[in-house]
Formats: sequence, structure tokens, C-alpha cells
Amino acid sequence: MRDPNAVIYLVPGVGMLSFAKDKSTARIAAEFYVNAINVMRGAASVSRYVGLKEQEAFNIEYWLLEEAKLQRMPKPKTLAGRVALVTGGAGGIGQAIAARLMSEGACVVLADIDAQSLDAAVADFGKRFGKDAVAGVHVDVTSEPAVEAAFREAVLAYGGVDIVVANAGIASAAPFEDTSLELWNRNFAILATGYFLSARAGYRIMKDQGLGGAIVFIASKNALAASPGASAYCSAKAAEVHLARCLALEGAPHGIRANTVNPDAVLRGSKIWQGEWRAQRAASNKVSETELEEVYRQRSLLKLSVYPEDIAEAVYYFASDLSAKSTGNILNVDAGNAVSFTR
Ligand SMILES: NC(=O)c1ccc[n+]([C@@H]2O[C@H](COP(=O)([O-])OP(=O)(O)OC[C@H]3O[C@@H](n4cnc5c(N)ncnc54)[C@H](O)[C@@H]3O)[C@@H](O)[C@H]2O)c1
Repeated sequence: MRDPNAVIYLVPGVGMLSFAKDKSTARIAAEFYVNAINVMRGAASVSRYVGLKEQEAFNIEYWLLEEAKLQRMPKPKTLAGRVALVTGGAGGIGQAIAARLMSEGACVVLADIDAQSLDAAVADFGKRFGKDAVAGVHVDVTSEPAVEAAFREAVLAYGGVDIVVANAGIASAAPFEDTSLELWNRNFAILATGYFLSARAGYRIMKDQGLGGAIVFIASKNALAASPGASAYCSAKAAEVHLARCLALEGAPHGIRANTVNPDAVLRGSKIWQGEWRAQRAASNKVSETELEEVYRQRSLLKLSVYPEDIAEAVYYFASDLSAKSTGNILNVDAGNAVSFTR
């Protein structure tokens, strides 16, 4: 037998539950069974419904042509059957990460505070990867009940969580003496606390599932390299890196890995780079806003621009079994910056 487990379970007083390798297969099986119910009802209205004999059903299911069709099916993708939650999933880097994970067969829950961008991203991904592969949940990562509710929604939608990407973020700049307590707290609330709450909610679910898991933090070059005029941001980013390492320690016995990706100067697609931050960075580099991308390219060792897809590739590595033997690691994706070399 290919699979001895039943796909459809009928629970009197509760309803019908369908189980399959992913959401779309389960949904299709359920739709077939609803049709079967209609056939049974029709049959019962004129006589008595009788199912196929087991041998007959077997002959259909294990027909040579059916076997040949199954053998020709493409191999399952590397993240097939896995569920990922990406915070800040409606942003530039978040959307690139979500697309990369979906292209490998994962189902992705985008969690974001920006409802408009979230709806647009979910609609777009639905068209590209199928509606069953993506869900959106509105969340403020600084709120404990909101983060808990978001993860509950993910579990209800897909049956669990295997990958958490903590990515929701902001950028801010201010000289140290002008850094208000409000600005300091805002950075820590979204970046440090937001990553903590998201990782903790995912970690608890992964521990209960007993299937391991991958937690990936999107920190920043500034987590390792101090940058003038951004002390609150840099310090909160450094807190994320160290939190990932603490998680790696405690998660290892459960097969839960925690790793960090450090981007730098990802201007394309990023909402951070559309606002005040861009003007401040241009002013501090004494160039116009349009020249900024070139400034960062020239500043890098490899003289290359970094794109959201480059960050997504590193996340895919840490989220998949390719990095099964890596935890507590940091991967800089910044086209090379000596100040952020890890030791
Ligand atoms: N773009 C870069 O150059 C760069 C460099 C280093 C690090 N990073 C980090 O990468 C991450 C993603 O940044 P991006 O460039 O894609 O920016 P972005 O602004 O395009 O995306 C960030 C997303 O986070 C969401 N968000 C903000 N506050 C939130 C909250 N309280 N709750 C839920 N969602 C919230 C925003 O709505 C947005 O969709 C951030 O953590 C950022 O610090 C970016």
C-alpha cells in the first residue's frame, strides 16, 4: 500500500477532517468527499448506497497507468510540507524571503502590521504560488497577545510551524545625545522584544511538535559594526544576534536551530529606505538620495549591490536541511565589509 492512513475522517457530531501532505491536497480530498456525500445522498434518495468492492477500488487505485503517472511526478521540493511564519512579511526583504520559501514548497504565513501591504502581498503570492500556499496575519510584534494569536492562526491554518523568520523591523537615526527614551524604547520594542516574542511563540510550538525546527533572525551589519548616529538601532540589532545564540543553545537538544543573517544596504524594495532613513543616510554620506546605492556598492569589498533575493537565499539555507548541522551561526550578506567580519 502506498499509504495506509485514511485521508478522510468522519467524526459524528464534529464533521469531516481531511489529512494529506499539504493544504491543497487535503482541500482537494475534502472537495472530492463532499461530492461523494452528494452521490451517496442521491443514491439513498432512490435506493440504497453501496460502495465499490475493495478489489475494484484497489484495481482503480493501483492501475498500471496510475502507477506510471505517480512515478513521473516531480520529486517533492525541499521544503514541501513545512510551514513558515515570516514577520515583516509584507516588507521588501520579508516578501523576498516568503517567495524563496514558497518556491521550495513551504506554506508561508506573512505576519505584518501594515494591513494594506499585507493584503497586496497575500493576493500577489496567491496568484504566483496558489492560494493554499500563503496566508496573512495582521500583527504588531511588540504585543505579546497579538504574537501569540498570530502563531495560533498559523497552526490552525496549516497544522503547525517549522520555520520562523524574525524580520519585522524599522530603522532610525539620531546622534547619541539626541536619542530620546521614546526612540530607544521603540527600537528595542520592535527589534529586540519583537524578535524575542516571535521566536518564543515559534519555539514553544516546535518543542511541542517534537520535529525540530529552524529559527532565522534578520539582524544587520550594524549588529556587529557600530555605526555613528544610530545607537538605538545598532544596540537593539546586537541584542537580536545574542538572543539567537542563546536560543541555539537551548534549542539544540530539541533539534531547533537558530541562526542569523546580517544584511546591509538593501535599498531595492525596502520601505525603510523609502523614508526619512534614506534622507538621513544620504546627508551623512554627503550625497544625493539617488547616489546612495552607488555609495554602498563602492563601500563594499566586492563592489556589489545587495538585493532582497540575496538575503532570501541565505534564509533559505538556514531554514532548510542544507544547514542541518549549523546553529548559533551568523551569515553576513553585505557584499563584504571588513568591520563586520565575525571572529
Ligand atoms: N534594508 C536594509 O538595508 C537592511 C539592512 C540591515 C538590516 N535590515 C533588516 O531587515 C529587516 C527587514 O527590513 P526591510 O528592508 O525589508 O524593511 P521594510 O520596511 O520593507 O520591511 C519591514 C516590515 O516590517 C513591518 N513592521 C514594522 N514594525 C512592525 C511591527 N511592530 N509589527 C509587525 N510588523 C512590523 C513593516 O510593516 C514592514 O512591512 C528589518 O529587521 C531590518 O532592520 C534591513
